[in-house]
Amino acid sequence: MTELKTAWKNIVAGALEAYARERGVEAGPDLVSAIVIERPPKAELGDLGFPMFPFAKLLRSAPAQVAAALASKIAADPAAGARGQARAEGPYLNVSLARPGICGATIAAATSPGWGSFGFLAGKKVMIEFSSPNTNKPLHLGHLRNNALGESISRILSAAGAEVRKVNHINDRGVHICKSMLAYQRYGEGRLPADEGLKSDHFVGKYYVMFNKLKEEDPRAEEAAQGLLRRWEAGESEVIELWKRMNGWAIEGIKATYERTDVCFDLYDFESDTYELGRAEVLKGLAAGVFYKEEDGSIWVDLEDAGLDKKVLLRKDGTSLYITQDIGTAIFRHGDWPYDRLIYVVANEQQYHFKVLFEVLKRLGFEWAAELHHLAYGLVNLPSGRMKTREGTVVDADDLMDEISALAAKEIEEKGREGAVGDMAGVAEKIALGALHYYLLQTGPMKDMLYDTEASLSFTGDTGPYIQYMGARASSILRKHEAGEGNAVKGRVRFELLCGDADWNLVKRIAEFPETLEASAKAMEPSLLAGYLHDLAVDFSAWYRDNPVLNNSDADLSASRVELVRAVRATLQAGTRLVCMPFLESM
Ligand code: ARG
Repeated sequence: MTELKTAWKNIVAGALEAYARERGVEAGPDLVSAIVIERPPKAELGDLGFPMFPFAKLLRSAPAQVAAALASKIAADPAAGARGQARAEGPYLNVSLARPGICGATIAAATSPGWGSFGFLAGKKVMIEFSSPNTNKPLHLGHLRNNALGESISRILSAAGAEVRKVNHINDRGVHICKSMLAYQRYGEGRLPADEGLKSDHFVGKYYVMFNKLKEEDPRAEEAAQGLLRRWEAGESEVIELWKRMNGWAIEGIKATYERTDVCFDLYDFESDTYELGRAEVLKGLAAGVFYKEEDGSIWVDLEDAGLDKKVLLRKDGTSLYITQDIGTAIFRHGDWPYDRLIYVVANEQQYHFKVLFEVLKRLGFEWAAELHHLAYGLVNLPSGRMKTREGTVVDADDLMDEISALAAKEIEEKGREGAVGDMAGVAEKIALGALHYYLLQTGPMKDMLYDTEASLSFTGDTGPYIQYMGARASSILRKHEAGEGNAVKGRVRFELLCGDADWNLVKRIAEFPETLEASAKAMEPSLLAGYLHDLAVDFSAWYRDNPVLNNSDADLSASRVELVRAVRATLQAGTRLVCMPFLESM
């Protein structure tokens, strides 16, 4: 559709220029760049709509008059005629595309391998950092949003041809880690996660919460945690040993959650390996006069001329801060794998941090600093507001998945579908993941949102399970056909039969998949794709309700419609994968 839209834009531009000449008006580039394409509100009105309002003033004609003039010019152009027909409809110029070519090409493309991947980012290397948890507690609902965004954008950019490297930056050192270690030393008595029947990251998280108890019992607990950090930095073997053990538990548990939610990484980097890198870079910047030293020995950057503040980059005792390690890590990453773009998927409360980071890297003279991007996202909460409560009682990712999965299983039971779905637990889990990821991605990243478990699971409406259900319906039609049921087996596929209004609408929707994917990749917005999949599911649902596929008396039409179902299925399959929803053959 993209080429077709471009072609029609050019046709309209040509006609506009000709009309402008007639009116004695200079048709500058402004005139042509004001052309916009809309989707007419009703299918009967055509496939593309060009509003004429932007041209009225310059051409000193009413919009309807411009539309009529352009329509008659285009009607006289045989090259345009081969591509469709233009009609004036009040202030709009509406175009009905020439259908037969598009039907064949669209269905052929959609049913071939490689549908949904194309190359506008070919040759580009994109690094994307997401999730990046701390190792003192399990993942929570905020991470689920982060992971969904990071994983989905990675898949979308890969589909757009980029070479993508997914990186998880594990913040595995610092005083917060020492707190859980200290509480474990005090209360753990050498127990293992299995001894307490806990998933290993939940076990670590439990001790992190118990640090609060420790603080009540021992007013010097905070100091003790600082002391433990100094001993860690000095490499004391007993401390390192415990740190390794507890981090091992935390990471093992967190990885199980990734696996359950179908998220994975090409690379894990650990703050404990990279936190020293920044110090040398800050010292270099000081020598180069980009930074300055305060009397107490701390090193600063003054970003006031860039509308930011003065910011400390290295403490007076020479220890690093959060920003120090990020400076080092970004430089190291670019040296290791020279990226064209680095995207950080991190909550919007860190917006200031990333502004400072990018500005500092720019001032250090790294040209690639212009290609750094903070993909910020807003809060996600449950309607009950559970997420806001104090540490230890945030919405846990695993618990939430258990809850959604159990609700999905109940839904299958209530619908009496246990027999049809086969592996009940497996399917419930896939529906849960479809519900979760679709819900989280359907909203643009910057908006704060509430995660409504029940609403996300509804089998009707704008939800993941609804889209999954339509995928299963398409699969079921194809299964029946493959089993020899219906009339299609006797027919011959003739794409021109799909040019009637009912089929055409669906074909057109399928043809929009590549351009939606491209728009979604450019804007790094999975929500565009999510919205598209919903529209496709709605169109498909209405279409197969009203138009017999297998039981059509016209065998050729039946066979052709089977191909259309195949194209729908392929598009739903490719599209849902990009928004991290499992595809279901039956549900
Ligand atoms: N671990 C940090 C947190 O939970 C996020 C890290 C983001 N990435 C980075 N390179 N600073 O807040």
